[in-house]
Formats: sequence, C-alpha cells, structure tokens
Amino acid sequence: MTSRPSRAPSSAVFAPIPAIEKLLDRSTRARGTPPALAGAVRYALVGGGKRLRPLLAWHCSRAAGGTGRDAAPALVAVEYIHAFSLVHDDLPAIDNDDLRRGRPTLHIHAGEAMAVLAGDAMLNQAFVVLARAPRPPALVTLLLEELAGATSAMIAGQVYDTLGGLPASLSPVHRLRLIHRNKTGALLRAACRMGALCAIGPKPRDPRLAAITRYADAVGLMFQIVDDLIDVQQSVEHTGKRTHKDSGKGKLTYPGVLGVEASQREVERLHKRALAAVRKLGPRAEPLRVLAGLLATRTR
Ligand code: IPE
Ligand code: IPE
Ligand code: MG
Ligand code: MG
Ligand code: MG
Repeated sequence: MTSRPSRAPSSAVFAPIPAIEKLLDRSTRARGTPPALAGAVRYALVGGGKRLRPLLAWHCSRAAGGTGRDAAPALVAVEYIHAFSLVHDDLPAIDNDDLRRGRPTLHIHAGEAMAVLAGDAMLNQAFVVLARAPRPPALVTLLLEELAGATSAMIAGQVYDTLGGLPASLSPVHRLRLIHRNKTGALLRAACRMGALCAIGPKPRDPRLAAITRYADAVGLMFQIVDDLIDVQQSVEHTGKRTHKDSGKGKLTYPGVLGVEASQREVERLHKRALAAVRKLGPRAEPLRVLAGLLATRTR
C-alpha cells in the first residue's frame, strides 16, 4: 500500500526523498540501545510515511537560498518528533488505532509498553540529533528552541483534541483552529522554519524567514483540515489507516463543524494564502508552491 502522493509536475518535489530516507536510516544506528527498542524505533520511523515534514524542511532551505541538504539535522529531528507523535496518538489511551501506514500500529506490533518507550526514545533522539548538529552554536540554539516550542504545542493540541479543556468562550470554529494549529500545524511550521534557518543562519528577523513562516502557518492548518476530510472521504485500503472514525470518537473536525464543502473552501483559501506568502521568493520557491497544491488535494 503506497502512501506517497504523486503527480506529474511533482518529480522535483519528491527528488530529495532517497536522500531523506538515507539520513533517517543512518540516524537510527546509534550504539548502546537495547535491540528491541532500536527495532521499535526503526519500525515507527523508517517504515513508510510520506516524509512531508522533511520535504518541507528541504524545500524551505532551498527557497531561502540553501542547498536543501543543509537542513539535514532539522529534517531528521522533525521526523523523529512526528513519528513519536503518531505512535502515541495511536495508543489505546488516545486514538486507539490498530493500523498505520498500512501496517499494525507499533503497540499492536510490539506491545503497549514498548510503544510508549519507543515514543519517549524518539522524542529524546530528536533533540540529540539537533544538539550534535555540526552547525554554529547560535543556529543550533534557535533550532532547539523552534522544535521544543512546536513539540509543546503539539502535546497541548493532543490534550485539547483528546481531553478537551479549551476556553469555553471560543466558538466551535475557533476551537477547531486552536486544536489544529497546535496538534498538527506547529510541527509543520517548525519543519519549514528550521529548514529556512539552516539556509539563512541564525537571523530570526530575515524577511525570507517571515515569508516562509506565513506559508507554513497556512499549510499547517490546511494539512489537518485535509486530514479531517480524508477521514470522512477515503477508505482504509487507500490511506493505510482507519477512516470514518473521527465523528464516532467525538473529535472536533472541520467537516464535522463546517461540513465538507465549507471545509474544502477553507482548504482552497489557505492554499492561496500559502502561494501568496512565497511569491516574492521567486523560482527557488517553486517546489513549495507545487507542494502546497499537492497537500491541498492529497487523498492519503
Ligand atoms: C498524519 O500525518 C498525522 C497528522 C498530523 C494528520 P501524515 O499524513 O504526514 O503521516 P505520514 O507520515 O505520511 O504517515
Ligand atoms: C494526529 O491527528 C495529530 C498528531 C499525531 C499530533 P489525527 O489523530 O487526526 O491523525 P491520524 O488521522 O490518526 O493520522
Ligand atoms: Mg489523534
Ligand atoms: Mg489519530
Ligand atoms: Mg486524522
């Protein structure tokens, strides 16, 4: 079951995938880890996935004048956090899912205790990768702050999504935005900003970073709206994960609150906003424009 979107003009967008896979694979070969834990981490990190966050980091580096490859520590670290978030998201105590990327979820494959611990290990490993990055200390500090902030936001979003506790004064749409920006948008934003920072260096006020941040904010929210639409519109065979499950679990979702058509209009609005954000970056940002289109129309 493949899980990578593909469209004719997108070959340049996906060209970095082999390099990304190699970097991820190499990052799991640390010594001194119990073999069962190393196997569980590899199962969660190396076995499939669309690699959208690493691709965003790579192409944001390129759009900001870098090589793409100079974002290596950032894209590996972000994918570790993403893989950790999925393993814990699937646990019985959270979404209780048994299928991910066309295979049993990690707690089905290796047991719940190992899934919890492998998630912990991946959370930690993300920051080990950044702390050891052969980059100037000022840049490493910014990357660490960026990823730590996004991880905190993701956890907060998962709490809102799973346990509620949102401010009662917020309307349903504002609640949705708060959940989605935190649980999903923040990490996508960090992927983009960290990729750009790897190219620009420790200059948080650089206008290229501001443009990429606007792009990332739009794409980050759009991504989870599309994920909500996928849940109501697609099959388990197509996506490799259970679908038609959000409403039964009482999740606050875009199609649940606004309906499918209004959710699709919101996707289109955010897509246009993402394109406008990187217009001034010129041809170097073309992969980001193509990627935004693919993320707006993806079905898995
Ligand atoms: C799924 O993310 C979880 C969400 C944040 C919606 P992806 O759709 O990027 O998952 P993989 O990595 O491709 O499996
Ligand atoms: C997942 O959101 C968000 C995080 C993992 C932080 P979902 O629960 O909607 O993701 P899927 O649908 O299980 O991939
Ligand atoms: Mg969830
Ligand atoms: Mg889930
Ligand atoms: Mg979902």
